[in-house]
Amino acid sequence: MNELKTLTLRRPDDFHLHLRDGEYLAAVLPFTARQFARAVVMPNLKPPVTTVELAGAYRQRILAALPGAQHFEPLMTLYLTNNTTPAEVRKARDCGFIVGCKLYPAGATTHSDAGVTAIEKISPALEAMQECDLVLQVHGEATQSDVDVFDREAIFIDRTLSILTERFPALKIVFEHVTTRQAVEFVQQARAGVAATITPQHLLHNRNAIFQNGIRPHYYCLPVLKREADRQALLTAATSDNPRFFLGTDSAPHAQHTKETECGCAGMFSAHAALELYAEAFEQAGRLDRLEAFASERGADFYGLPRNAGHVELERVNWVPPKHYQFGKDQLVPMRAGETISWRFRSEQPA
Ligand code: DOR
Ligand code: ZN
Repeated sequence: MNELKTLTLRRPDDFHLHLRDGEYLAAVLPFTARQFARAVVMPNLKPPVTTVELAGAYRQRILAALPGAQHFEPLMTLYLTNNTTPAEVRKARDCGFIVGCKLYPAGATTHSDAGVTAIEKISPALEAMQECDLVLQVHGEATQSDVDVFDREAIFIDRTLSILTERFPALKIVFEHVTTRQAVEFVQQARAGVAATITPQHLLHNRNAIFQNGIRPHYYCLPVLKREADRQALLTAATSDNPRFFLGTDSAPHAQHTKETECGCAGMFSAHAALELYAEAFEQAGRLDRLEAFASERGADFYGLPRNAGHVELERVNWVPPKHYQFGKDQLVPMRAGETISWRFRSEQPA
């Protein structure tokens, strides 16, 4: 059988992305804008993006950092805190550039200390979001210290997410970066209006990657990589025809020295090769034919956005990402640094 040599897709969107700020933003934004028409931008800056005013200013900084000719639309989010008011939520709906609010359980991950300590605290905000048709993006990990790090997602489903979905029956919810078989099953069986994003690293790697011949900080992200059976469940879900699973890279750049240290940051940078990495995963499952739906259709449909015009192309060519990219005054180690990737992003086609 002839091997597919090129792959043409409707221009995709990234429904979960960390862009950072300042010179870090300028360093990473071109990678995403090259491949994606739009991205849902996470609000976990320091200080967090908790108001419409802060989100508007951040959006302007993103647009200003775009390389000349690139068209890219940042879809902004608000960082929910115990103090987020219904009035701020309504303002978010009215501003036209905010698509949702991110729920970080306090202490769950990078810059989540201002996050939510109990769902009850944000009930008024969630009621308002439901009325305003804003999407709730959930970092789904239980943070109690007695919960094993590998069980945090499954326990969050039982203790929090299952209750939340029922208590707010019309709230649109994206269970972000799902990593377990339990999360896949939850999303498959949940009421209408519940979906999930899946990252390239969770499709391509299991937790052995973190411990391959030594400790590998560049495979450390949150939620942490899980078992092979979980990876298989994610791959099956992503490559199925279920519209609830779609692309969100969770590309999360950190300076090299903040990962290669005694207490390293969580996050993997994938924006330089996002589509290529997904293509490898889909090919592994024998379902390259489903990549377009996953990358370019289902997310937009769920968010009620038009699908993009224009196309992008991947070609089957081996290439090797560099050992690091410049990241402001620092360096950044990308996913698969110094290793071969078998698909390469070619170009943006005109609409
Ligand atoms: O690995 C992660 N990195 N997980 C998150 O939830 C946050 C992200 C970051 O901002 O670095
Ligand atoms: Zn994230």
